Amino acid sequence: MQNKPTVFLDYASTTPVDPEVVEAMMPYFTEYFGNSSSIHKFGQQAEAALENSRHTVAEIIAARPSEIVFTSCGSESDNLALRGVALAERKNRGASHILISPVEHHAVSNTALQLQDLHGFNVEYLPVDQFGIVDPDDVKKYLRPETAIVSVIHANNEIGSINPVQEIGEVCQSHGVPFHTDSVQGAAHLPINVDTLNVDLMSIGAHKFYGPKGVGALYIREGTPIIPELTGGGQENNLRAGTHNTPYIVGLAKAFQLTQVNAQERHAHYDLLRKRIINHILSEIPSARLTGHPDQRLPNHTSFVFQGVDGNTLLMMLDAAGFACSSGSACKTGDPEPSDVLLALGIPRDWALGSLRVTVGQQTTFNEIEDFLNVVPDLIHQVRELISI
Ligand SMILES: Cc1ncc(COP(=O)(O)O)c(C=O)c1O
Repeated sequence: MQNKPTVFLDYASTTPVDPEVVEAMMPYFTEYFGNSSSIHKFGQQAEAALENSRHTVAEIIAARPSEIVFTSCGSESDNLALRGVALAERKNRGASHILISPVEHHAVSNTALQLQDLHGFNVEYLPVDQFGIVDPDDVKKYLRPETAIVSVIHANNEIGSINPVQEIGEVCQSHGVPFHTDSVQGAAHLPINVDTLNVDLMSIGAHKFYGPKGVGALYIREGTPIIPELTGGGQENNLRAGTHNTPYIVGLAKAFQLTQVNAQERHAHYDLLRKRIINHILSEIPSARLTGHPDQRLPNHTSFVFQGVDGNTLLMMLDAAGFACSSGSACKTGDPEPSDVLLALGIPRDWALGSLRVTVGQQTTFNEIEDFLNVVPDLIHQVRELISI
């Protein structure tokens, strides 16, 4: 067992960079290394790569190239959306209310809380059902004339549930309130057309879809009020100063393009693995529950809670047995407190402490899943025994 390579089952935390993506990026480190703002030939080469990448991303999501802002990560895209729109709406019309779901990634929820602490915004949380899904009718009820922005996660990183973004967007649009969705997980798997989804702002991050870490994008519908987060030069339509990271932007566009290729086949593969994991764990392990929606969820995503289990101990034991999994969100691992997202679903604390997220990817095989399923029930039994000592 010890000599076997560890099986990676944590594709929602990150993914390996696709070799085709690495190949596309390489010339922009050495050969075409110019600063895209320079007038000369080197600058023009970088500028051409940048604008090609912008066109690629725009085409995939049915946006205009001028509506794409490249950022350093999904978190930065979320920060720019929330802070940029909230402060612009405050300046333009005195808006003071922010509406988010209680199951947002911390990049959204902590930004909203900072806007509350430092800028006096009132942050309100939409209700969610037991699967972490927002009802569009509730958005209608909670909207106020002074709402600056609504932000609801597209597909949840911890529990995989997919929100009815299209319907929520329709409500926001009819009330003239900017609507942001964090699609850092969603964009890796789901069809994204910003007009169909009725979103004004949408965050994506390359490392969730076999692109490099440290690069993201924010879609901003033309006409959306927004002020820059990072001030300085006039890059990215004056919304994000800083010399462009051309190789990474090229990598993001290439990786995003590859997500569109063979998407159906890939999803069919994920779906079989996902069903196998869910069925086996729920039938073989006592006091186990699936978290998130059974069907309306990311195709590669499974997540569970187990009563009377310490999630971090379980992760360490799984790692020692050769399986890299997560307790929910990569940012959360190591924290002894149960996740806010799981508590927001009404899951009791002694269950929420025993969470496990298993997410599969392009490289995951059926044999790896069978090996994993062979060890999990016994490991959970062992962790329960440890706790009861
Ligand atoms: C839903 C969601 N939003 C935002 C982020 C943050 O993205 P990044 O790691 O690119 O900053 C993540 C990453 O885990 C995520 O899953």
